[in-house]
Amino acid sequence: MGYRIVVAGATGNVGREMLNILHEREFPVDEIAVLASRRSLGTEVSFGDRTLKTQDLATFDFTGWDIALFAIGSDATKEFAPKAAKAGCVVIDNSSLYRYDPDVPLVVPEVNADAVMGYSKKNIIANPNCSTAQMVVALKPLHDRARIKRVVVSTYQSVSGAGKEGMDELWDQTKAVYNPVTEVPPKKFQKQIAFNVIPHIDVFLEDGSTKEEWKMVAETKKILDKSIKVTATCVRVPVFVGHGESINIETEEFLDEDEARDILRESPGIMVVDKREDGGYVTPIDCVGDYATFISRIRQDSTIDNGLNFWCVSDNLRKGAALNAVQIAEVFGQRVLKKG
Ligand SMILES: NC(=O)c1ccc[n+]([C@@H]2O[C@H](COP(=O)([O-])OP(=O)(O)OC[C@H]3O[C@@H](n4cnc5c(N)ncnc54)[C@H](OP(=O)(O)O)[C@@H]3O)[C@@H](O)[C@H]2O)c1
Repeated sequence: MGYRIVVAGATGNVGREMLNILHEREFPVDEIAVLASRRSLGTEVSFGDRTLKTQDLATFDFTGWDIALFAIGSDATKEFAPKAAKAGCVVIDNSSLYRYDPDVPLVVPEVNADAVMGYSKKNIIANPNCSTAQMVVALKPLHDRARIKRVVVSTYQSVSGAGKEGMDELWDQTKAVYNPVTEVPPKKFQKQIAFNVIPHIDVFLEDGSTKEEWKMVAETKKILDKSIKVTATCVRVPVFVGHGESINIETEEFLDEDEARDILRESPGIMVVDKREDGGYVTPIDCVGDYATFISRIRQDSTIDNGLNFWCVSDNLRKGAALNAVQIAEVFGQRVLKKG
């Protein structure tokens, strides 16, 4: 006997990847329902070689469904996640709404799979921000070995992190640069994204940082260790899929770059590609469609006693969202529901 699964936001970037990944990983699905807004009623989406018609989330009855994977943004989640949870369907949510709620576990299975067991207070499990997910996968084994004290991270985040409208804006603006008869003013992003980079993601906070930067700080503490200090600068770049991160860590104990490379090579969810030659590293385009968090450019930071620099890349729609959510569903299925 398998699971009755709901995918809410099935017409979106993350929802479509959820369907692909459930199929690829042969998640034991007995029945699947795909939901979106009323606007998309009847829109067809693919699940393996099947075509499914989307239903309206607003009128869907969650009674009798096991797990709902939500990828619909915070506003709609606020309205519908409690309804699903109350009906006994456990919600695995991709929005930021519940991530900082002490009664909701925030889970990256390679790092804190056991936290899943805290689901029962609200029947909800949260998925982290895409930039945090790939970073904590990389930090965890290094922290276990040498205790990380401080992280300095700068992100290079693709436009798909801003949903399908973000991808359309980059596409349309890029075409308009070559064919200036049409003008495509910034809408989803604050400035032109085509042929540009924008040091601003999500809203500004009082201290001059942005909410996206704050999320990386708060989520790393909740998932990995509350004593780790994190400072982040989040930047949007004109890449369709795949987030890059330049990460500097300071550790309590000395960690040699070769040992760090060996540790990362052995760690779950990580692929090390680190040749000190032209092209001997991973770029966002290389990681699209992959499950792994890729690490390159591992090197000592000679300006401090115990410091390392490295480059971290992952598919933000996969490890940063859909894959992580499906991995949580797998852990939850194995440890709690025990079907399939
Ligand atoms: N993209 C990433 O890298 C990433 C990473 C981590 C987390 N997330 C989070 O995942 C969520 C989805 O992101 P996305 O990139 O997939 O966005 P998207 O491409 O814009 O898709 C949004 C989806 O939500 C549905 N939706 C929106 N409002 C709805 C409503 N009121 N009722 C029912 N369905 C509604 C849309 O349905 P219609 O097509 O009918 O409008 C669509 O299926 C967001 O919370 C985002 O913050 C995204």
